[in-house]
Amino acid sequence: MRKLIDTNPQSVAGAKPAAGARGLVGSRAEHDSAWKHVRGQARYIDDLPEPDGMLHAAVGQSAQAHARIKSMDLSAVRTYPGVVAVLTVKDVPGHTDIGPVFPGDPVLADDIVEHIGQPLFAVAATSHRAARQAARLAKVEYEPLEKFLTAEQALEAQSFVRPMHQQLSGEPDKVLKEAPHRLQGQLYVGGQEHFYLEGQACLVEPTEDAGVHVHTSSQHPTEVQKLVAEVLDLPIHEVQVEVRRMGGGFGGKETQAAPLACIAALLARHTGRAIKYRMARQDDMVQTGKRHDFFTTYDIAFDDDGILQGADIMVAGRCGFSPDLSDAIVDRAMFHSDNAYSLGDARVTGHRCKTHTVSNTAYRGFGGPQGMMVIECAMDDIARHRGLDPLDLRKRNLYRPGRDTTHYGQVVEQHVLADLIEQLEASSDYRNRRVEIAEFNRDNPVLKRGLALTPVKFGISFTAQHLNQAGALVHIYTDGSILINHGGTEMGQGLYIKVAQVVASAFQVDLDKIKVSSTRTDKVPNTSPTAASSGSDLNGMAALDACEKIKARLVEFAAETYGVSTDEVRFADNQVIAGDKSVDWAEFVQSAYMARISLSSSGFYSTPKIHYDRATGKGRPFYYYANGAACAEVVLDTLTGEYRCTRVDILHDVGDSLNPAIDIGQIEGGFVQGMGWLTTEELVFNDDGRLLSNGPATYKIPAVSDAPPVFNVQLLKDSPNREATVFRSKAVGEPPFMLGMSVWSALRDAVASIADYRYSPPLDTPATPERVLNAVTATRQWVKEKDTAAAGAPATGEPVC
Ligand code: MTE
Ligand code: MOS
Repeated sequence: MRKLIDTNPQSVAGAKPAAGARGLVGSRAEHDSAWKHVRGQARYIDDLPEPDGMLHAAVGQSAQAHARIKSMDLSAVRTYPGVVAVLTVKDVPGHTDIGPVFPGDPVLADDIVEHIGQPLFAVAATSHRAARQAARLAKVEYEPLEKFLTAEQALEAQSFVRPMHQQLSGEPDKVLKEAPHRLQGQLYVGGQEHFYLEGQACLVEPTEDAGVHVHTSSQHPTEVQKLVAEVLDLPIHEVQVEVRRMGGGFGGKETQAAPLACIAALLARHTGRAIKYRMARQDDMVQTGKRHDFFTTYDIAFDDDGILQGADIMVAGRCGFSPDLSDAIVDRAMFHSDNAYSLGDARVTGHRCKTHTVSNTAYRGFGGPQGMMVIECAMDDIARHRGLDPLDLRKRNLYRPGRDTTHYGQVVEQHVLADLIEQLEASSDYRNRRVEIAEFNRDNPVLKRGLALTPVKFGISFTAQHLNQAGALVHIYTDGSILINHGGTEMGQGLYIKVAQVVASAFQVDLDKIKVSSTRTDKVPNTSPTAASSGSDLNGMAALDACEKIKARLVEFAAETYGVSTDEVRFADNQVIAGDKSVDWAEFVQSAYMARISLSSSGFYSTPKIHYDRATGKGRPFYYYANGAACAEVVLDTLTGEYRCTRVDILHDVGDSLNPAIDIGQIEGGFVQGMGWLTTEELVFNDDGRLLSNGPATYKIPAVSDAPPVFNVQLLKDSPNREATVFRSKAVGEPPFMLGMSVWSALRDAVASIADYRYSPPLDTPATPERVLNAVTATRQWVKEKDTAAAGAPATGEPVC
């Protein structure tokens, strides 16, 4: 592999900023927009200055989940005051299907509708309100068709958006038959609304030559560019897409921003005016895809010590009406159905269920969290079955040398978790608290406390191999200031500041000399979405590559100018040092410019080593794994099912951190979002397929007051990435989300205490107070039956109540 500048972890990463150059890699540089965020000065789409004559877009929405459109009368829409244009699918000059990977997503419905909220026609009007009001005035006649709403219904009817996929290692059937112990179970894992603070929005301006300039809140500018070009029937170079920042994306803006941009572009083309399309929160919740809910089952064999010998796991995701990204999402659920544990001989089957609901999409973890829930559920069940502490069972089953091959053939090479868990077990005082909590529970009939420590092992790389590439563009101006453009987008996760730090380290200059400009498809082309937690891995490396090219020229220039060998040229503390001469960075750059040295370069990176063969279900889909563990404590009221998470301790592995402050923020935020997914965030659809939880009053995300009052988050020390990632860091965006599983496990632990931990209560997710109360009731019932059976066993034959 190409030699990169100083990626030696010892020299830079994790180190304090060198004297003189501030904000290098490893420092706690603040988010580049932190002050703008809190002062309200950061511009989101809706804050951009509005072009003259701009119109607002809205769409008419299907009122039925699955139906044939018999007729659509739009006359009242067209005559509503302020309406300038009304378009249907017949007005689309180019492609009418905007499926991101596979076809199946009509930009506007044609003959058939497949979910409530599906766009039927588009309206442009002089105000946001007029567009929305007008869109409601269509008279649509439907002929209802048979519909499936849940994954189970779709499974039953064999209704799928993509074919089933299976991974097989060894002979699970034989092992399951012959093993000393075998346990079966099932778990429903709920979906999740993204609830980004900035809703979906875009602003499209027509340019000359029939092109468009698109400002969008999207994680995937290149895909927006391609789809807009296809819909307008233009070459891609006529469409420019620009993303300065998103007010949160969380996966919900990977594909879901594109339909808005396509609709706005159609209206812009038709009217010749700029169009803003900003969804109201309720429309956003109804019309855009969410995390897939999953129906899952397991059948697991283990020995007396609870060591897994074989497993047969099934995961079925509710994909909604179209494929969107569901093939890869269900794959990722399958890849993570082992979480951190060696399954032994295993079969993992994944179904992509087609339902007449909105098409579900990427959401932090991308199916991985749902897959992990199956095995974490099984871990608790097996532990209680064998009378073991769940933590002991988890530790025994971790991948380790000798038991290190996953069910898809990838070998776990860097074993971080055994040591990480050991450290967390000590720092969280797990053992003493376990004893103390058991005593508390014995003494308290109403309040019960629960404790759980769960690990996360998350594969880093896009499983679609081609997406693991990135480009960057670095310019140095004559005053020594540096501008970076790269293919990654900023959604609050701190990608821009991390890449800026990488460039600062490359040239050893202060961070304030560096600016990252908005992401633009005309600067860096053919980019991948900022997703799969790979933003800094990919774009950081691409930027470093660009720096390396410029640096090589500068080194040569310095060597010639100062009469030294290239080995004697160094960059340090805002200086370029050549032998015993030291020149200020800006001065040096100016002289390089005068000598006609190019001060600009593009850079490129593609992840090495990865491959996966879907035909055999084997490969190395991930460059490496990110790891972490969380220990959560809860207290619950067994009379109402209400609970609180009272303490959380987290130890997380980010390799050598690029920026510990940003990474801790990602871990805290990810954890709380994961906790919300598994506890309070419940998506409720009625029998028509209408989303009832369609606003903040009916859908409960965690608030500040839900954050655990004791919340200790630490980064694992001295754990550089074994692979040659950017400064030996590890991706951090998604993995901490799954640490939230510890809260669910702790809730089950608290409920199980009612049965002295002999019974594993069923607890589908989200574990709302209602579900927890049901679990309490089921556990009490189990205890009663056990006691009855035990008391009834003697020959007296008398009934025991
Ligand atoms: N953090 C913030 N603040 N906002 C977000 O939208 N998205 C998450 C994660 N952290 C998100 C976030 C998701 S789903 C991913 S894939 C990563 O950030 C993407 O950014 P990265 O690859 O640069 O980490
Ligand atoms: Mo994240 S779900 O990969 O955008």
